[in-house]
Formats: sequence, C-alpha cells, structure tokens
Amino acid sequence: MDLKLKNILPMFVSLLLVSTSNAQSGVYDVTSANYGGKANSDITQALSKAWTDACASTSASKIVVPSGTYKFVGATFKGPCKAPIEFQLQGTLQAPEDGSQLPKADTWIGFERIDGLTLSGGGTFDGLGATAWKQNDCNKNKNCKSIAINLRFNFVTNSIIRDITTKDSKNFHVNLLGCNNVAFQHFTVSAPQESINTDGIHIGRSTGINITDTTIGTGDDCISIGDGTKQLHVTNVTCGPGHGISIGSLGKYENEEPVSGIFIKNCTISNTDNGVRIKTWPASPANGVVSDVHFEDIIMDNVKNPVIIDQEYCPHNQCTLQVPSKVKISNVSFKNIKGSSSTPVGIKLVCSGGLPCENVELSNIDLTYTGKEGSITSECKHIKPTINNVAQPLACATS
Ligand SMILES: *[C@@H]1O[C@H](CO)[C@@H](O)[C@H](O)[C@H]1NC(C)=O
Ligand SMILES: *[C@@H]1O[C@H](CO)[C@@H](O)[C@H](O)[C@H]1NC(C)=O
Ligand SMILES: *[C@@H]1O[C@H](CO)[C@@H](O)[C@H](O)[C@H]1NC(C)=O
Ligand SMILES: *[C@@H]1O[C@H](CO)[C@@H](O)[C@H](O)[C@H]1NC(C)=O
Repeated sequence: MDLKLKNILPMFVSLLLVSTSNAQSGVYDVTSANYGGKANSDITQALSKAWTDACASTSASKIVVPSGTYKFVGATFKGPCKAPIEFQLQGTLQAPEDGSQLPKADTWIGFERIDGLTLSGGGTFDGLGATAWKQNDCNKNKNCKSIAINLRFNFVTNSIIRDITTKDSKNFHVNLLGCNNVAFQHFTVSAPQESINTDGIHIGRSTGINITDTTIGTGDDCISIGDGTKQLHVTNVTCGPGHGISIGSLGKYENEEPVSGIFIKNCTISNTDNGVRIKTWPASPANGVVSDVHFEDIIMDNVKNPVIIDQEYCPHNQCTLQVPSKVKISNVSFKNIKGSSSTPVGIKLVCSGGLPCENVELSNIDLTYTGKEGSITSECKHIKPTINNVAQPLACATS
C-alpha cells in the first residue's frame, strides 16, 4: 500500500500540474483527447470545437494544430472572443479539392469580428486549387460560380499574421475587408504563374495594414489594393511570378471609398506582368479618389510594365473607352526604381482625359530594356509629372 502510493502520488501530481498549466496558458491542442484530431484525417469538427472553447476563454488562449497534414472542409471562425486568441498552425491544412464540398462557396477559412488575433506557427493553408483553376471561367462568364478564397479576414482588428504560408488557393489567397491595424510578417503566398485569379493579398476598406518581409509568387496580383484602403505599408516584399503590386481596379462600381496613404517600399518584383500599377476603369459610375501613394526603392527584374498608371483599364472590352475615368489620381511618387523591363515601354502613365493626374513625381528611375523591339521609352497622357534624375527616353519623351 505504502509502496503503491509512493508510485502513484507523483504521477497524479504531475498530471495535475500538466492539466492546470494547460488551462492557465490556455492551450487548445486539436490533437488532445478533448478534441481528438488526428493527422491524415479530417479535423473540421475538432478545430471548430477548439475555436469555440478558446474564443470563450476569459484569458489569452492558443489553439495548436501540430505538425502533420490534416483535411479541413472549411469554417468561419467568429468572434468576438473574450480575450486575445492565437491560432498556431504548425502543420498543413488541406482544403477539399472539389469546391462544392465547402460549407461556404466563396470562403475556405474565414476569421470574422476578432480583436487581437495572432495567426502563427510556420504552417500552410493549402487550397488544392488546381482543379478549380481549370474550371474558372469568370473572365468570360459574368454569372460564374463563386470560388473559395483561402483566408478571409472580415472586421479583424489589432492582429498579427506571421510565419504562415498560403498555397494554391482556388481564388484570391487572402482577402481583407473592414480590418484595422493588422500586420502580415514573414508571410508566404505560393501558387504557379498559370493559376487564375489567385491574387496574393487583396485589401479593401481597411486601415493600418502592414505587410513586411513577405514572399509572394502567384498567378495574379501579388498585392491588390481595393477601394477604402488607407494607411497601408508594404515593406520588403518579393513579388513574382504574378501581376505585380496594384491599386485597383477602381471606378467600376458606385460608392467606392477613397484610397490614400499607400507606402510601398523596399520591394523586389521579378518576372511579372506589372511592377507598380494604378488602374481605373473608364466610364466610372461615380467619382473616386486615389491620393498620397508612394512607391520607393523598388527593384524590377524582367517586368513587362514596371511603372504604370492606366486609367483606360478595360479588359475584354467591357467598357466605353470614350468616356474618361472619374477617379482622380493625385500626390503620387515613384522614387528609386531600378532594374529591367521586358517590353520597351518602361513607364506608362495614361491618366483620365476628364480628371488629369496631379502632383505625380518620378525620381531616380533607372530601367533598361534588353529585348530586341527597339529601345526603352515612356508614354504619358493627361499628366505633367515632376521629373528628377530620369533619363530622357523614360521621362515622357513621347506624349
Ligand atoms: C505599421 O507600420 C507603421 C509604419 O512603420 C507603424 O507605425 C504601425 O505601428 C504598424 N502597424 C502594425 C499593425 O504593425
Ligand atoms: C526581407 O524579407 C526576407 C523574407 O522574409 C527576409 O529573409 C529578409 O531578412 C528581410 N530583409 C530585411 C532587410 O528585413
Ligand atoms: C531595405 O533593403 C535594404 C537592402 O536590402 C536594407 O539594407 C534595408 O534595411 C531595408 N529597409 C527596410 C526598411 O526593410
Ligand atoms: C496633395 O498634396 C497637397 C500638398 O501637400 C495637399 O495640399 C493636398 O491636400 C493633397 N491632395 C490630396 C487629395 O490629398
């Protein structure tokens, strides 16, 4: 008896310690007995239950998905939570290949109305999008089926997303709506060049978003900046393949909010269709505003349109080019932009005939064209940029 107790007591005490320390630090491991998640199986229920418990915790909590590969059908993780919440994905979550199996057609994983979220852990959200890209006909069919975005952040505030990879999303990789004060750090987006409509990070109606030390390779815009984006800082982002870093398209819909305070710094853009771009549709239904936009210290490597403002953006002739854009672009700078253009037009600034661009500065721009279709040139319309240290053929020689 005495001997037995001697053996059991320490075990009991240590078990007690483990369980209380877990409760104190608020760790919700989806593979624990409570949730029963297992690698190589579907953890939709386990993870959803862990979220519900963690979100209800009155002290800081951490959900852990350990390393390993797990199936996840999809969910929207909703707040408000009672305390800061961390979602630590160490392993890989895989979406169903068939988009029709997702509970919500346009979202694989959503985070909604959460204050103080940390998404971390070094893991991967794998959208398994290859089948969906083949079926995507949205460029031809206006009533095409909606396709799931890997990660949606709706009304998320004071949050950090770091050391996370999103891979092969069926549609955009990340979409932000109504967010405030959210930082992406060491974030990775990975999809092949031929994947359709797989924008890396799309931002709309959000303020105070930072994207730093991030690598984006995908089939569409690396970062796309929609209406209502304010105070966006993008620093040390590598983009390519993809369509570059783009403001817009804007001016297609009514009730678009202004875009302002955009700072794109220290980025490298390689083998993309565009480098840094602002695009607006002609014949806008309402007035729009883009102002206080700064592109600085950007390296271009083999980019088709390194520097571009296009206010006659009209793919597939879906608009009336004769009616000028009603989006006013002002207070824009392009500074320290160096590298190579894969077409002869290194700088293209085509502004609106109705609302010419104002206060646009080109400074220290050094681009070379290495192809055989003539020499490097620039094209400017409805704009008189301020030019500092830009060699003549690039300084709006043709107009
Ligand atoms: C974003 O960057 C700006 C400028 O560096 C900084 O003032 C701000 O605190 C950052 N915000 C977040 C959420 O990290
Ligand atoms: C830029 O980001 C890359 C990739 O995340 C990182 O390895 C590198 O250290 C960063 N550079 C600076 C100057 O912070
Ligand atoms: C920008 O890049 C340069 C060279 O890679 C580096 O020295 C500098 O620290 C970077 N600045 C920021 C703000 O990341
Ligand atoms: C553009 O900058 C000028 C001078 O700094 C400022 O007065 C003006 O309000 C700015 N315009 C917009 C639309 O922000």
